[in-house]
Amino acid sequence: MLNIPSLKNKKCLIGKNPHHVAVIMDGNGRWAEKKGKMRVVGHQEGLKAVKKVVKFAFIKKLKILTLYAFSSENWKRSELEIKALIKLFLFALNSEIHNLTKYNIRLKIIGNLKHFNKDFQHCVQKAEEITLKNSGLLLNIAINYGGRWDIIQGIKKIFNRIQQKKLKLEKINENMFSQYLSTGNSLPVDLVIRTGGEKRISNFLLWQIAYSELYFTDVLWPDFNQYIFQDAINFFISRNRRFGG
Ligand code: IPE
Ligand code: IPE
Ligand code: MG
Repeated sequence: MLNIPSLKNKKCLIGKNPHHVAVIMDGNGRWAEKKGKMRVVGHQEGLKAVKKVVKFAFIKKLKILTLYAFSSENWKRSELEIKALIKLFLFALNSEIHNLTKYNIRLKIIGNLKHFNKDFQHCVQKAEEITLKNSGLLLNIAINYGGRWDIIQGIKKIFNRIQQKKLKLEKINENMFSQYLSTGNSLPVDLVIRTGGEKRISNFLLWQIAYSELYFTDVLWPDFNQYIFQDAINFFISRNRRFGG
């Protein structure tokens, strides 16, 4: 007999706002270059757009917002740009933490943090701890993140548990594997937004976006705002999500 999976629990969100939105925030450099400014200025302006989207996600009562801030491939950039990005990230972490708490937002940093120094790791840990009990929006920031890295680190964790005889090979399935990814037990990504005109995923969440709707816009990240965010949500609402059915 065929084993037909139950559709009862499939949340299709037809005509509804997405629960989980993931954003590839691209175009900071080009935004600055167009204005004859240093790329770093584009990243500084990009931070203002980050604040706008977090606020909008809060107002729209999204459950999860995952932002791609630094990819595992972005180390190929100049030392000057990398240092500026790290400095900007730490500045934002310090200056915005009180707002996160005020709006009941929980912060989680996803990515391979082993590449950063102890001070950096400490700041991240502190910020996550401060917001740990917040029950509103979950804000994931992806730093030194790669979708392939995420899958491999999940496999390593599973392998460890099997070696320790805490897990049986037969127990591995798609649902439980998701829990070993850096996004953990969270809802799948409903909508991916990419600014900056490129139509690619650039090693962002790979497993997690298997059935996401994809929204691409030419708008450069520093020009992104709540109206374009709403356009993306409207696009999502208009989709007919069939999940292969
Ligand atoms: C995205 O903007 C921010 C990061 C990758 C850190 P870019 O810096 O990639 O901007 P463009 O694509 O060069 O314009
Ligand atoms: C993707 O943008 C990474 C982030 C937005 C953090 P990139 O600018 O690094 O991607 P590519 O090089 O265009 O694929
Ligand atoms: Mg780019």
